[in-house]
Amino acid sequence: MARREQEHDQLPIPNGWFAVEWSRELHEGDVKPIYYFGEELVLFRTRSGEAKVLDPFCPHLGAHLGYGGRVMGDSIRCPFHGWQFDGASGDCSHIPYCERIPQKARVRSWEVQEKNGMVFVWYHAEAKPPEWDFPALPEIGHEDWSEPRTFEVELEAHVQDTHENNNDPVHFQYVHGMPQTPPGEIHYDEDSTHYRIVNTSEQQTPLGVFEVTLARDSWGLGLTSVRTEGIPDAGLLMYSSTTPIDEKRVHSRWLLTCTNNLVDIAGEEFMHGLTQGVKVDLPVWKNMVHRSRPVLCEGDIFLSDYRKWARQFYSDSVYDER
Ligand code: FES
Ligand SMILES: [Fe+2]
Repeated sequence: MARREQEHDQLPIPNGWFAVEWSRELHEGDVKPIYYFGEELVLFRTRSGEAKVLDPFCPHLGAHLGYGGRVMGDSIRCPFHGWQFDGASGDCSHIPYCERIPQKARVRSWEVQEKNGMVFVWYHAEAKPPEWDFPALPEIGHEDWSEPRTFEVELEAHVQDTHENNNDPVHFQYVHGMPQTPPGEIHYDEDSTHYRIVNTSEQQTPLGVFEVTLARDSWGLGLTSVRTEGIPDAGLLMYSSTTPIDEKRVHSRWLLTCTNNLVDIAGEEFMHGLTQGVKVDLPVWKNMVHRSRPVLCEGDIFLSDYRKWARQFYSDSVYDER
């Protein structure tokens, strides 16, 4: 007898940096209600150009700042009675009909950073400040690299399971129909929130046959880049962030760029390969259960290490409570 509830070990939402919007979709003065991590949030861009995220419910009478809220300089103004909240601190900065600002007039502000064409927030189950960082990638926005193409999708999946694909070379063969790849090498950084998997093999590329290296970098759960290196004077880069909407759904954003000399001959194929690749993963993710103690075999070289690595991104309070 197989009951989903009995077979499934629900993972909580991990801590980390997650994209909540494309930078290009958030203009100065834009205000957007967003929903991630099982929480309501308000995202806006101040007049000085900074992206900000606050808890959205006004401490006054509870209006949602994301519906009708308005950017005023570096603050957002509540649609109900005009109280203003500073985007950086979340403190009430102005009440239009009263001099004195009550001490408790504030909303929680979230840590935000913007790089690689996306707006990221730091999520932590216990609201602790950021514990690690991730790099801006030089290829994105570089003049020798193509204008990034993007793709996004909502999936019924958990971010740990979607990320696990990176560490699962066997699935590339069965799900994605790729030729068997030689096992790669894995390198964990000292602080260990980052790791890199490298695979090198001879490959037919649009510019000829070369020893091509596929380097997959991961920063926390859900943030990954894949670089194709070894083609002389050319390269491809895929970058993606997968963000928990709640415990059972994610929003994935992908960005692709390649050196300008490849864009006409391989740009379309690269994009097509990515979108098709995600499509074939979907039925597996949608219908699988998560096993916290999977039965692994000796050939599953990266999987148990990945599971151990992933554990650090969960607060004990939410992980042990499951
Ligand atoms: S509810 Fe926000 S100002 Fe009154
Ligand atoms: Fe996959």
